[in-house]
Parts: sequence; C-alpha cells; structure tokens
Amino acid sequence: MAIFVLFLLPCSAQTGEHIDWPRWCGKAYLPPYPDFNPGGQVVEPPKLQHLSLNLRFKPRYNIFLADESEGEFFIHAEASRYYGFPWPYMEKDDDYWPSDVNFTITNTATGEVLIRNMLNSSRTVLKAASDRPVYRYKFDLGKFKPSFAPYEVTLHATPSFQNKHGSPSWLIEHNFSVKSEIYVLPSKAKGSITRIDNLSGGLLFRNSTPGSKFEPFFPYGFYARCEGFLCDKENYAANIKAYHSLKLKSMVPMMPASETSGHLYGTLDSLNMTYMYDLRQSYKNHSAVREQVEAIKDSDGLYAYWTFDQPDGHSATHVPMWTASSLIKKIDPYHPIAVSLSCDNYYFEEYTKAADIIVADVHPIGASMSASKWHTNCNTTYGNCGCDNCIGNVTDIPTRLGHIAQFERWLNHWPKPKMQSVQARPGGENHLPASPSADEVIAMSALAINHGAKGILPWAWPVDDEITALHSKFAAVMNKGIVKEILSKTTPKRFQLKKHKLLDVSYWLFNRTLMLSVVNLSKDSYVGPLKFDVPHIEPISIQHVLWGNASWDHREVELGYGMKLRAFTLDPMSTNILVSMVCCENYPSLSEDFD
Ligand SMILES: *[C@@H]1O[C@H](CO)[C@@H](O)[C@H](O)[C@H]1NC(C)=O
Ligand SMILES: *[C@@H]1O[C@H](CO)[C@@H](O)[C@H](O)[C@H]1NC(C)=O
Ligand SMILES: *[C@@H]1O[C@H](CO)[C@@H](O)[C@H](O)[C@H]1NC(C)=O
Ligand SMILES: *[C@@H]1O[C@H](CO)[C@@H](O)[C@H](O)[C@H]1NC(C)=O
Ligand SMILES: *[C@@H]1O[C@H](CO)[C@@H](O)[C@H](O)[C@H]1NC(C)=O
Ligand SMILES: *[C@@H]1O[C@H](CO)[C@@H](O)[C@H](O)[C@H]1NC(C)=O
Ligand SMILES: *[C@@H]1O[C@H](CO)[C@@H](O)[C@H](O)[C@H]1NC(C)=O
Ligand SMILES: *[C@@H]1O[C@H](CO)[C@@H](O)[C@H](O)[C@H]1NC(C)=O
Ligand SMILES: *[C@@H]1O[C@H](CO)[C@@H](O)[C@H](O)[C@H]1NC(C)=O
Ligand SMILES: *[C@@H]1O[C@H](CO)[C@@H](O)[C@H](O)[C@H]1NC(C)=O
Ligand SMILES: *[C@@H]1O[C@H](CO)[C@@H](O)[C@H](O)[C@H]1NC(C)=O
Repeated sequence: MAIFVLFLLPCSAQTGEHIDWPRWCGKAYLPPYPDFNPGGQVVEPPKLQHLSLNLRFKPRYNIFLADESEGEFFIHAEASRYYGFPWPYMEKDDDYWPSDVNFTITNTATGEVLIRNMLNSSRTVLKAASDRPVYRYKFDLGKFKPSFAPYEVTLHATPSFQNKHGSPSWLIEHNFSVKSEIYVLPSKAKGSITRIDNLSGGLLFRNSTPGSKFEPFFPYGFYARCEGFLCDKENYAANIKAYHSLKLKSMVPMMPASETSGHLYGTLDSLNMTYMYDLRQSYKNHSAVREQVEAIKDSDGLYAYWTFDQPDGHSATHVPMWTASSLIKKIDPYHPIAVSLSCDNYYFEEYTKAADIIVADVHPIGASMSASKWHTNCNTTYGNCGCDNCIGNVTDIPTRLGHIAQFERWLNHWPKPKMQSVQARPGGENHLPASPSADEVIAMSALAINHGAKGILPWAWPVDDEITALHSKFAAVMNKGIVKEILSKTTPKRFQLKKHKLLDVSYWLFNRTLMLSVVNLSKDSYVGPLKFDVPHIEPISIQHVLWGNASWDHREVELGYGMKLRAFTLDPMSTNILVSMVCCENYPSLSEDFD
C-alpha cells in the first residue's frame, strides 16, 4: 500500500512505526547503481531429461478440527518436464502406459498408515490438463491426537505391476516419497475460525456461535483508514455502523488493537463484521506480535492476519517474516496469514513463503502516466510510482493474477488463495494522476474474480459517494448465498468466444447452477445477439441477472444443439454476471461433489 503511504502516517505514528521506503522491486535505483542486480525472479525451471511423475499431495483443508471425524487428502499427479521422479514407461511408448502408482500415506513420526490405495496412471497422470485435477482420499481423523503443531505426513509411491513386461526388481527401484503436513487442531470454544479449501483455494469461515458450521466465505471489504474514520474517538462507532449499513460486511481496519482501539474491534464484532487484522507494522517485534495476536485471536470477526504489506516493494528482509509467521501459527493456527505484494516478479518465493493468502496489490489506472507526471524514479518523496510492469489499464489485474499462478506452477507450489486489492478514488490527495471510472472500478473487481480471486479488498475507506454506492451494490451481489458458495467452493473456468477474444469470460459450475461473468474489454463494435456456446453446458433457466444491463435470453439456436445463452449489447468496459440453472444431472462436470 505504499502508493498512498502518506495516509498511513498518522496511524503508524501511534505505534512508532518506521516505514522502509520502497526500493521498488529492485528497479528504482538502477540509474545510480548500474550494476545493481534485481535478481530474485521466478523463471521457467530447467527441463528434466525425461518426462517424470510429478506427484504432490495436500490435506483437503489447511486445518482440521478435533471435532471432525473425517479427514481427506488430495493428490495431484501429472507427467512433468520440470519436476518429479523417474517412473516406468513415463516416456511415450506405444506398447505401455506409465505404471500405475501404488501408494501409502503415513504419519511420518509413527509410520501409521492413513491411506493405502492406487492411482490409475493412464487416467490421472496422462490426462492431467487443468491446474488442480486432484484425487481425493478420505481417512479417519481420529488417528491424530489434536495438537497445535502440524503433523508431517509422507506419501510413499511404488509402481504396481499392472504393466506386463518390466521385471519386478527393475520396477522396485522406482519408488519415492513426498512429504506434506496436516494440522489437526483442538476444538475451539471461543471466537471464529477460518480455513482454506485446498481444492478451490477459497475460504470457509466458522463463527463463534457454539455448534456453528464452516460456511462459504468471500471477503469483500475495504481497507479502512485510521484518520477520519476509525480513529475518530467521538464517531468511530457511528462511522462503522454507517459502513455496515451499506451491506459491506468485511473490512481491513488499518489500526492495531491497543488500549485505544480495543473498542473498535468490539464494535465490529457486535455487527458480525469480519476483518483482517493489521500486523504489518509490528511483525518484526515478537513481543508486539505476541501481545496483539493474544488479544485478537479469540474474537468473533477475525478472519485473517494481514501480516506483511508489500514486503517486496520495501525490499524487506525475509527471515523476520518467516519467524513472525511461525510465531503467529504457534499462538493462533486457526486463522490464515496474508501478504500483499506490489511487485510483479521480485523474490516472489521468499515473500510468499510465510503467508497462506496472497493479495495482489495492483493499482494500474494512471500508473503509466505517473512517471511523466512526477519525472521521478520512485524516490522517497513519492514512494511507489504506481504499478510494477503495468500497462496502465484494467487488464493489468488479470495479467498479474496470471503471473502469480504461473510462478506457482514454475515453483511447483500448490496454489494459495489470492485476493485482489482494488484501486478506488481516494478523496483528497492522490499520488496517481488518474482515477478509475465507475465502470473500471467494477471491471477490476469482476476481472479479479474471473481470474480466481477469492476476496476483494478495495483501497481505501472512506471513498467518494459514487464509489461507495458501486462497491456497496457489487459487494451485495458477491455476498448473496449462491454467489458466495460458488466463489468459495469452486474455481472459475475460462471461456473464449472465437470472434470476441477481448470479452473476458469465466464461468463456474456448482450443483446444476451456472454463473457466467463477462467483462467487455473490446473496442471493436458488434451489433446483434452474442451466443455463449460453453461446451457441454445447457442453461435452461436464467435465475438472476446479478450485474449489468445487457439483456439475456437462452434458446435452442440450432435444433438438437441444446440451449445456449445469448446476450444483447455489452457496453464498453461493462460487467455482466448472471446465474442460470443448467441441464442435466449427468454431466461429468457437474457430478464432482463439493461437500
Ligand atoms: C493446503 O494445506 C496445506 C497443509 O496444511 C497448507 O500448508 C497450504 O497452505 C494449503 N494450501 C492452500 C492452497 O490452501
Ligand atoms: C485405468 O483407466 C483406464 C482409462 O480410464 C481404464 O481403461 C483402465 O481399465 C483403468 N485401469 C485400472 C487398473 O483401473
Ligand atoms: C498394487 O495395488 C494393487 C491393488 O491394491 C495390488 O493388487 C498390487 O499387488 C499392488 N502392487 C504392489 C507391487 O504392491
Ligand atoms: C525403494 O527403492 C530403493 C532403491 O532405489 C530400494 O533400496 C528400497 O528398498 C525401495 N523401497 C521400497 C519400500 O520398496
Ligand atoms: C450476528 O449473528 C448472530 C448469530 O448468527 C445473530 O444472532 C445476531 O443477530 C447478528 N447480529 C447482527 C447485528 O447482525
Ligand atoms: C516491541 O513491542 C513491545 C510491546 O508492544 C513494545 O513495548 C516495544 O517498545 C517494542 N519494541 C520496539 C523496538 O519497537
Ligand atoms: C524525488 O523526485 C522529485 C522529482 O524528480 C524531486 O523533486 C524530489 O526532490 C526527489 N526527492 C528526493 C528525496 O530525492
Ligand atoms: C444442490 O441443490 C439441491 C436442490 O436445489 C439442494 O437440495 C442441495 O442441497 C444442493 N447441494 C449442495 C451441495 O449445495
Ligand atoms: C490496455 O492497454 C493495452 C496496451 O496499451 C491496449 O492494447 C488495450 O487495448 C488496453 N485495454 C483496455 C481495455 O483499455
Ligand atoms: C464491447 O464494447 C465495444 C466498445 O468498446 C463495443 O463497440 C462492442 O460492441 C462491445 N461488444 C459487444 C459484444 O457488445
Ligand atoms: C447500461 O447502463 C449504463 C450506465 O450504467 C448506460 O450508460 C447504458 O446506456 C446502459 N445500456 C443499456 C443498453 O441500457
């Protein structure tokens, strides 16, 4: 958030915060230090000599609780040129399939077997096309004693003897182990819990009411300023109530809990607001971390810790981040830790290592003009000059989310949940010379969800009336039961219309419900109905037009072809989202269970 860093000073001053000024992703000092090596870039890994079996596994959720009985592991298996282990018949061979994988998953410490099973390699390995084609295996959670520390688990893989040739002694050498960890936490009597679904990358939230269940959760809430809002001693409660009355149910208060702000969190809790707790200015100080996490961990509305704010932009030292993260996990493993990143590709692995959630901090509108306006190399006066490697329009949002996903693939990481910080129009001084239009504001939020974001965090409350009204309306859509459920439990699938590549289209399928979202980024004019021929999907009744004023219908365009959605007029930079029921129950894509 260094762009608007001046706004933070009044609050930071209260905690004696020292802000490292941004070195700007390793680039700012290039002219004075020509041999400065930005380094730290994630690049395509070197190719292996042989196609290999790349097998990773994760528990379904980042945390399980002792009051649950069933655990679940996900296995992701693919044939890879980058990562993995040699495996019999992995290279294409007309006579043989790669050998099937017999595996066990054990508790590393005790050797106790949790799961013993087989992966059919011709189905799982060779057909792994999408990012997360995972296979699911349940086990008895009672095999773990509840603990605050994670258990290490080992998957041991051996070839089965399905393939006819190949002598046993040769095959047996092809075995390998991969490790993961699982949290089985004691049940919690007080306060909220947030967990991450390792399948969708979405969040589930359990409130503090005894007996409540994990519910789909999609945080949509502003960063909220101290000055003029939370730190207004007379009116803070009224201010928060006014915010809440706009159907905004979540917030990132930029204000640590202290004697003076304890009441602030009480007010948020009393309104059932959820919040991400600000630790970004104290994570280097272990006694401050201990004090604050102890104070907030059992509150009702806490959903995550915003522990690291643009550490890449500040070139923060890595190790203190990692130690802060393990300290927080020791005190409160029930809530995830978030990092917001400003750089496109600057020590991504190191800066995200200590976090469970990655917030993409991309504020593109006006970024391309800032250099010419300020005539500056991002020095200490102006801090962050905008948007790293951006072209300066809304497409920078999907580009950055795409890069993050690419880095995770290149690093062979299991993808973490992403959230999007959205540029708004702050009242008063603005360090970027341009502001997004109303359409661009919504387009940026919609593009983020189209590209997999699991939370929207607009910068920064209070904002002007138009932006307030827009986000309030859009947040209400995202908070609708079915939308929240779809966003948190499934991943978007991309769809491209052949002749309209600049329509950004994603769809989600959940329990015979289709959600379709279209952002028009095109400049080519088009008149007439536009058919969305999403393969294998037959929308049969439009239930809600959630956003936009394109008119929609669905009809059988060609006989025997099934129903297809049609839209008339997608305004420039407009966002259109709808929900429709689909036919029929037996589509393979609909039969995945999402429980
Ligand atoms: C999946 O679970 C593991 C183990 O608890 C956790 O470390 C990881 O962050 C999770 N991944 C995602 C995407 O939630
Ligand atoms: C593996 O999957 C393939 C393709 O679905 C199928 O033909 C084959 O019978 C399966 N093998 C086993 C051992 O299940
Ligand atoms: C692999 O698993 C299958 C089915 O469980 C079993 O029949 C086979 O003997 C196993 N192979 C080895 C080498 O253990
Ligand atoms: C795994 O393979 C190694 C040789 O690479 C062998 O020494 C070992 O006994 C094998 N382990 C099992 C459990 O098959
Ligand atoms: C907060 O949630 C609780 C339990 O779900 C409910 O009883 C209460 O009415 C809610 N309060 C507000 C202000 O919405
Ligand atoms: C660290 O935090 C503690 C507790 O809040 C505080 O008393 C102390 O002054 C802080 N130390 C520094 C160096 O800021
Ligand atoms: C930053 O750059 C601006 C414009 O070039 C200049 O006016 C200002 O003095 C610089 N600040 C510092 C601290 O160098
Ligand atoms: C799917 O929809 C049916 C009918 O609307 C409903 O009864 C069922 O609970 C839904 N399942 C899930 C997992 O939401
Ligand atoms: C964004 O900028 C690029 C590069 O200037 C341009 O090609 C593209 O059309 C722009 N997109 C939008 C939606 O303005
Ligand atoms: C998308 O917007 C452009 C203007 O930028 C407009 O000319 C075009 O007709 C729109 N596309 C569709 C499919 O409506
Ligand atoms: C859709 O709404 C926008 C303003 O939000 C307006 O400019 C446009 O004319 C409307 N389009 C149609 C087809 O009603």
